[in-house]
Amino acid sequence: MNCTENLLHENLGICGDNLTFAGYDTVELAKKYGTPLMLLDENKIRNTMRTYKNAMQRYFGEKARPLYASKALSFVGMYQIAMEEGINTDIVSIGELYTAIKAGFPLENAFFHGNCKTDNDISYAIENKIGFFIVDTYDELYAINKIAGEYGVKQKILFRITPGIDPHTHEAISTGKVDSKFGTAIETGQAYEITKTALSLENIDLRGFHCHIGSQIFEIEPFCDAADIMISFIGEIRERLGYTAEYLNLGGGFGVRYVESDPCIDYSENIRRISEHIREYCENNDLPYPIILMEPGRSIVADSGLTVYTVGSVKEITGYKNYVAIDGGMSDNPRYALYGSQYTVLCANKMREKCDYVCTIAGRLCESGDLIQENVKIPKVQRGDNIAVLVTGAYNYSMASNYNRVARPAVVLLGETDRLAVRRESIEDVSRLDILL
Ligand code: LLP
Repeated sequence: MNCTENLLHENLGICGDNLTFAGYDTVELAKKYGTPLMLLDENKIRNTMRTYKNAMQRYFGEKARPLYASKALSFVGMYQIAMEEGINTDIVSIGELYTAIKAGFPLENAFFHGNCKTDNDISYAIENKIGFFIVDTYDELYAINKIAGEYGVKQKILFRITPGIDPHTHEAISTGKVDSKFGTAIETGQAYEITKTALSLENIDLRGFHCHIGSQIFEIEPFCDAADIMISFIGEIRERLGYTAEYLNLGGGFGVRYVESDPCIDYSENIRRISEHIREYCENNDLPYPIILMEPGRSIVADSGLTVYTVGSVKEITGYKNYVAIDGGMSDNPRYALYGSQYTVLCANKMREKCDYVCTIAGRLCESGDLIQENVKIPKVQRGDNIAVLVTGAYNYSMASNYNRVARPAVVLLGETDRLAVRRESIEDVSRLDILL
């Protein structure tokens, strides 16, 4: 097979022998910025944000909005882009909140998630006038009520509800089942009870409900099922408590094509189909149509990202396997080690050569499980060649660590020009919090 057959997305191409991404030569960028290097296709990020926003407004109504799930990739520039594109954001920590503040993101459009918000988190968010909390449990509900009271605020919240859906994705990223650590279950009656309690609390302004069933989901049915369950729950609450939810947040989770065998998803069409379910249910049950929110993370940034590495060594164990070791690894991409995630791997400077060398791409960290991908086919490579791992925009940089005191990569945005969005960590950065005893 020739490597040209492995171009998964339209933002990839070949110029001379080199791989291009968003119209830029990845090998040239590796020379300019060093490796490991995280590249981001800015136009694609913006276009996908627009696709979500336009489709949601068209099918769900003018007030519908995507919230960019910034856990997928969080740095100041991402919130600036989301702000410029007029979409909201979902944040899960005061670290993400602080980053959004630095970007000048309007916090009335931010939704604070998480299953264990501390008093400090809650105070910080209220102090900075967060739009909504998405509340998981009684403990959190009471804490927000108390702290909001101290600030003289009636705090807007949504409840995170577990609709009891199994979305057929990796167990570690499935979140909507009854026994999930997130949210409150409908099935057990607890979702009804917590709603009733919230309506009685002085400093709580309950505006609606949220669910998120999981991530990297290719089928549409789990989303439609979740929407049906949530709308029916909204109907039940209206009947029993006389409370009509204004918002329904359907979470994130649309899948992304990492390898050739993954399908391509038409996000706009998915949104249209989900909207039909909701409309039908609301019409049949005489329910007002809620304002719909969604929280796409992966599908906004994953295929807008690519990581370039440099080969450090090639080791052939005769009769066993071949290792190609690169200058990054689980410190910038822990997803194969954690979930066995599939990736497409190319040799960025040998795009015209035959991909007939079977090897395992190993990271540089001191751990046998530090692999990026096993049994890939690339051209025969040597020290100094560039390896490109495709579709690394989501949950790579955001899950990066300093294991082995390895510094995190630089992030470069490719738009009209190439510009540094996050500078490369230095070895001084890595030890900057340490105190000499
Ligand atoms: N909303 C909530 C409440 C979430 O928990 C998540 C993801 C999202 C939205 C965004 O979902 P997305 O559109 O990105 O699928 N680290 C894992 C993924 C964890 C997902 C966590 N929650 C991975 O690398 O695959």
